[in-house]
Amino acid sequence: MTGVLLITGGASGIGAETARRAAKRGYKVAINYRSRGAQAMGVAADIAAQDGEAIALPGDMGNEADIVRLFAETERAFGPITHLVNSAGIGAGMRVDEYDAARLTRLFAVNVIGLMVCCREAAKRMSTRHGGKGGAIVNVSSMAATIGGRLGASAYAGTKGAVDAFTKGFAREVAAEGIRVNSIRPGMVLSEMTENRLKDEAFRSRIEASIPMHRVGQPPEIADAILWLLSDEASFITGAMLDAAGGGYII
Ligand SMILES: NC(=O)c1ccc[n+]([C@@H]2O[C@H](COP(=O)([O-])OP(=O)(O)OC[C@H]3O[C@@H](n4cnc5c(N)ncnc54)[C@H](OP(=O)(O)O)[C@@H]3O)[C@@H](O)[C@H]2O)c1
Repeated sequence: MTGVLLITGGASGIGAETARRAAKRGYKVAINYRSRGAQAMGVAADIAAQDGEAIALPGDMGNEADIVRLFAETERAFGPITHLVNSAGIGAGMRVDEYDAARLTRLFAVNVIGLMVCCREAAKRMSTRHGGKGGAIVNVSSMAATIGGRLGASAYAGTKGAVDAFTKGFAREVAAEGIRVNSIRPGMVLSEMTENRLKDEAFRSRIEASIPMHRVGQPPEIADAILWLLSDEASFITGAMLDAAGGGYII
């Protein structure tokens, strides 16, 4: 079943690649962006040029009012939302002794609370309990959740650990109401989030040496896994965490 897919943080990286590939599979795609309006409209235009359907919609996923508006605007454009990918996320490189409560609050507001509010909005629409026809959700977590992140990424890892725990609980809550909820845990992927750091050859070599496949991932490799989790091929899978990480970490 394809349908109406909303992707948060869809202007770049994993979200943008998921949007492009979803449109090819017949989804109508709503591409949410925060600051990257031109990029989001570019992705939507590329999709339209290939006879797909997409719109770009602004909204800060750390802001509840923006999230509520985003869901309403998506529905106004395309009808009932059947699929959701929560890809919006921010990183934070800080050791615990450098923690700053305002930065931590923003990190959790976007990576965790915003994602949870998006899931609330989706559940209210998709759940058979509320008159919906079901649906599927993928939350973009991270392999950081499994080992506490690389050094200096404990706060980020904490947000992704929260995403995984929430995903499991939410999935069980709505499993009998037609909604499947899973998370995907990418390892290091070359995207706008990581490209600057990966330009440092020494850093990249260190990272690649720590991955069993000895390479970083590419956004299409994550997007295809997300689309599989969204699809009917994954019809008995809910509350799962799928590692897309080249084998994880060599420790
Ligand atoms: N790349 C990796 O190695 C990796 C590994 C594991 C997990 N992940 C996760 O994968 C997801 C996608 O990341 P990516 O690698 O594709 O990097 P990316 O290109 O930086 O994508 C993140 C997107 O989220 C958007 N975003 C951030 N804060 C937002 C907010 N408050 N509201 C709406 N959109 C917001 C960003 O737009 P703005 O810049 O405009 O805010 C950006 O377009 C993230 O959740 C990330 O944590 C990435």
